[in-house]
Amino acid sequence: MSTTLAQALRQAAGAGLERLDAQLLLGHVLDRPRAWLIAHDDDTLTAEQALAYQTIVSRRAAGEPVAYLLGHKEFHGLNLAVSPATLVPRPDTETLVDWALEVLAPQTQARVLDLGTGSGCIALALKAARPNWSVFAVDRSPEALAVARANGERLGLAVNWLQGSWLEPVAGQQFDLIVSNPPYIASADPHLEALRHEPLSALASGADGLEDLRQLAQAAPPHLPPGGWLLFEHGYDQADAVAALLTQAGLENVSHRQDLAGHRRCTGGRRSR
Ligand SMILES: C[S@@+](CC[C@H](N)C(=O)[O-])C[C@H]1O[C@@H](n2cnc3c(N)ncnc32)[C@H](O)[C@@H]1O
Repeated sequence: MSTTLAQALRQAAGAGLERLDAQLLLGHVLDRPRAWLIAHDDDTLTAEQALAYQTIVSRRAAGEPVAYLLGHKEFHGLNLAVSPATLVPRPDTETLVDWALEVLAPQTQARVLDLGTGSGCIALALKAARPNWSVFAVDRSPEALAVARANGERLGLAVNWLQGSWLEPVAGQQFDLIVSNPPYIASADPHLEALRHEPLSALASGADGLEDLRQLAQAAPPHLPPGGWLLFEHGYDQADAVAALLTQAGLENVSHRQDLAGHRRCTGGRRSR
């Protein structure tokens, strides 16, 4: 028996999918935009399309992120490829990008470093907004870096991609601005279960979730010139701890930015002049 688009969407809802996810996935299977689906409710799927849709709906129902199933995610106005080697870029991370764009004058010929770049989302959003900046991006994962590099090539955005651990690949270099969204979830945090499809190495950071932030707060300031900025994203309840780490590291003007839910999600400071 043939299945109409409307029936397929109802079956997806029955499997527990939100309507938007069900539509995005059906559009992906049919290679059509959402608006087209709405106007073609009574069209029927071929047997092959119906099977492909059932398979992708089952994967979504089992918790795979929509972005992995689609193979891409929108971030700060850029359409980025993602894979299971990269964290799915989150809207909250756009807060960090917006803050980074505020701290340096737009015309500055700045050197900027993104540590733990994943899909390249932060580095690419900065380069897209400030083509005159020299942007560098580091990740330990060669697989993530390959996705980031391909995103840069497809978007025509020139970023210097470097593989290695945190500041190792930029030994001896200085940057006017260093940004990072490092792993920051405590290794025994029950929320990790819901994130099991994303790389653990992008998420977990020691018993209290602060291991990488502690390491970066120590290692990054020597790479800042006087007046240079260091900005972090972190967990919703880590703002005071991260502020203390930056103050201990000798940074000034330590302050926070809130995410879309009103949590202090980013903390940063500046090397004294
Ligand atoms: C929370 S994800 C952030 C990814 C991306 N910047 C974003 O905002 O979506 C953290 C990233 O840090 C990388 N990472 C973890 N430990 C690292 C290390 N020691 N050195 C460099 N990168 C590291 C992971 O591979 C991952 O891509």
